Amino acid sequence: MLENKTVYLNGQYLPLNEAKISVMDRGFLFGDGVYEVIPAYHGRLFYLRQHLERLDNSLAAIRLANPHTREQWQAILAPLLDAGQNQYIYLQITRGVAVKRDHAFPENIQPTVFAMCSNIMPFAGRDAGIKAVTMDDSRWKLCNAKAITLLANILHRQEALDQGSAEAILVRDGYVTEGAASNVFAVIDGVLLTPPKGHDILPGITRDVILEIAQTNHIACREEAISLAQFKSAEEIWVTSSTREIIPVVELDGQPVADGKPGPLWQNMDQLFQAYKQSLS
Ligand SMILES: Cc1ncc(COP(=O)(O)O)c(C=O)c1O
Repeated sequence: MLENKTVYLNGQYLPLNEAKISVMDRGFLFGDGVYEVIPAYHGRLFYLRQHLERLDNSLAAIRLANPHTREQWQAILAPLLDAGQNQYIYLQITRGVAVKRDHAFPENIQPTVFAMCSNIMPFAGRDAGIKAVTMDDSRWKLCNAKAITLLANILHRQEALDQGSAEAILVRDGYVTEGAASNVFAVIDGVLLTPPKGHDILPGITRDVILEIAQTNHIACREEAISLAQFKSAEEIWVTSSTREIIPVVELDGQPVADGKPGPLWQNMDQLFQAYKQSLS
């Protein structure tokens, strides 16, 4: 049964089961839209400015004007939050409802804006680590835009699940890009590495937070391309995202990562990350 929480749709707050959009919405017909996932701890949105900056970039990539200012976004999202929970906002903007199905952008239509809030559930694989499998990255050339068109990501994640793993690690031209729904980090020769920003990866906000924490705490860290061969001999591998935070990968393609247990740098970074979150909320 549908959980009947309050959601936001085009200027109104209403119960989820009353939130309806037209089948002519371009999000439905074409996947013509972008989204954000913003965590909130104790009712405070975490790194909101950075999430809204990324939203601006995603909207610019698909040539859609941002319908709201940052202050308006904050005002729209605040009533959805519950201070007693760790939560995340899912926010989606599509190009809107057109009168006919046509690839060309329609003129003079209003974007569809939808937002809902959900509780963050503890992720089962967090403390023991997860299994991951590598596969060829089948996605397009605009991976830096957080587009709702996630079919390739879904197929990659499902392929990993079908192989008994929790995440797919994607590889393009022999280099690791990111996970199906996460960024990747590897510890190689004692240095924390993550692939650089560009069109091949989503610029994850959790990734940025980890880079900031590493810098503040003098943890050797570089944004650098990682070959699959290097990756396979890494001392530690992590995948990161706003809702799962920092997850150690303990098995890659059926082989243990180092001794097959979450590594010491993960333990350290996870503690620093949790303390940082607490300090801001
Ligand atoms: C493809 C992809 N890369 C990276 C991330 C991590 O981004 P963030 O840390 O902003 O959640 C996500 C999040 O869902 C994602 O879908």
